[in-house]
Amino acid sequence: MIFAALLLAAALAPAAGTNAMVATEQHLATQTGVDILKVGGNAVDAAVAVGYALAVVDPCCGNIGGGGFMLIRMHDGRERFIDFREKAPERASRDMYLDARGNVDPEKSRKGWLAIGVPGTVMGLDRALREYGTMSRSRVMSSAIDLARNGYVVEPGDMIPFEGSPAEGYSGWAFGEKPHVGERIVQRDLGASLDSIARDGDGAFYRGAIARNIVDASQRNGGLLTMRDFADYTVDESQPVHCTYHDLDVVSAPPPSSGGVTLCEILNIISPYPLAQWGWHSPRETHYVVEAERRAYADRNAYLGDPAFVHDPIAQLLDPRYAASLRKSIAPVDPTPSKQVKPGLHITVHENDDTTHYSIVDKDGNAVAVTYTINDWFGSGVVAPHTGFFLNDEMDDFTSKPGVPNMFGLVQGERNDIQPGKRPLSSMTPTMVLRDGKLAMVTGSPGGSRIITIALETILNVFDFGMNVQQAVDAPRMHMQWLPDQIQYEPNAFTATTMNALRTDGYAFSEVPFWGSAQAIVIDPKTGMRYGGTDRRHPAGAAIGY
Ligand code: DON
Repeated sequence: MIFAALLLAAALAPAAGTNAMVATEQHLATQTGVDILKVGGNAVDAAVAVGYALAVVDPCCGNIGGGGFMLIRMHDGRERFIDFREKAPERASRDMYLDARGNVDPEKSRKGWLAIGVPGTVMGLDRALREYGTMSRSRVMSSAIDLARNGYVVEPGDMIPFEGSPAEGYSGWAFGEKPHVGERIVQRDLGASLDSIARDGDGAFYRGAIARNIVDASQRNGGLLTMRDFADYTVDESQPVHCTYHDLDVVSAPPPSSGGVTLCEILNIISPYPLAQWGWHSPRETHYVVEAERRAYADRNAYLGDPAFVHDPIAQLLDPRYAASLRKSIAPVDPTPSKQVKPGLHITVHENDDTTHYSIVDKDGNAVAVTYTINDWFGSGVVAPHTGFFLNDEMDDFTSKPGVPNMFGLVQGERNDIQPGKRPLSSMTPTMVLRDGKLAMVTGSPGGSRIITIALETILNVFDFGMNVQQAVDAPRMHMQWLPDQIQYEPNAFTATTMNALRTDGYAFSEVPFWGSAQAIVIDPKTGMRYGGTDRRHPAGAAIGY
């Protein structure tokens, strides 16, 4: 297994930059960001440029047909969370993926026109640029337009999504003919779409020809999208979630992402444990981290949903007394079977209701963390004529039916049911870590439900286990999400002795070849040096500093 070999290879040094750092999963997009910073753009200018560039050179995951989250922290301490998550179309309904017998038909929420949520990326990037950027839209989009019009040459690392992921079983069938290494991919339709967005802004996408083409194709093919869905789409802004872990202040994604709340709930539970003393992925460290994850994911699945539709009990979930009560329920050695772990808050639930991540820090210390997605690799697998980009299948992130797992095995509840105009609950976790009020780390990853534990492990790897940022993103991972009741792990995540010990204690394991693509930056508090780590599971990526 090539990835296992990669992970075993000697640890690489991180990229270093005295001024700035950009880490993304495609090197041409990283270079686009660096170029913008070098000519005086700030981190938000670079983030918008990278967002559009990835839509061209990372077509599995970078997108304008999906949605996501941008976490911004300006050097003066201002923080903002820009939510451009997709919304369910107005004609969507709770049981739309059930067949006549009431069973979930997973194909419908994952492939084709019924799987699509109203995309948010273009409006989200435009909002960020207008409010926090310094450059014109046409300036920051010029590199993406050039890459689409004049093409980019496919390198071996770019082939992974097209070959299909052994971890996730998706293939690149939707891109038409599979490209070859060395081939120049020109995307004329995408170039024209980007050009019209550069000229007319989000109007081109939401009220112009792009929306028209998508809606026409959707209507011809049994989809739900209407021009009104596009005209009514909105981006939301809020303050990020905060929690304290040792001497760190963790800043992360609030609902409709479950990422920040779940990450913070896990950190709250594990904060008194001497993880470093126990050792990285040792039986004891694994036991306590996994038990914290099990409890936090049970809560995630039961309590969280789009805040425009449900009340998210964030204060209760992140109350230190709640963490203490959960800690008490963890036995010293034995796993707690997931069927005994119920969502732990004593509250009544009132019902009213393929991804990529990149991290940027500029010379002034402005920082941006973006995770955005079309869900599956190549999303729903459909492209509207003349548009040149894949549309998402984000509707699968909703609860199609309570108790039935989604694509990521998440068994979710009523709060995340499908309703018109609602955003599906996400696991995307763009995150920053502050120490003494200063930016110390920017991190995040794709990986479906595992995104949260990837963010967690990158943070623990750096601050508890003393790894450099490249080691931190490369280190093999473990994950537990309540259901299924097993520790998922990558090859080499544990020694045989550790696994035997944990098996004897009662843990079940499931090996997953590899997951995620963390892109992280760590800042040296003394020198201000920016160190970048790009996940070697995705060799097309690059962290470049200057
Ligand atoms: O928002 C979410 O949680 C998912 N749609 C993310 C999907 C993802 O990370 C797929 N890539 N591996």
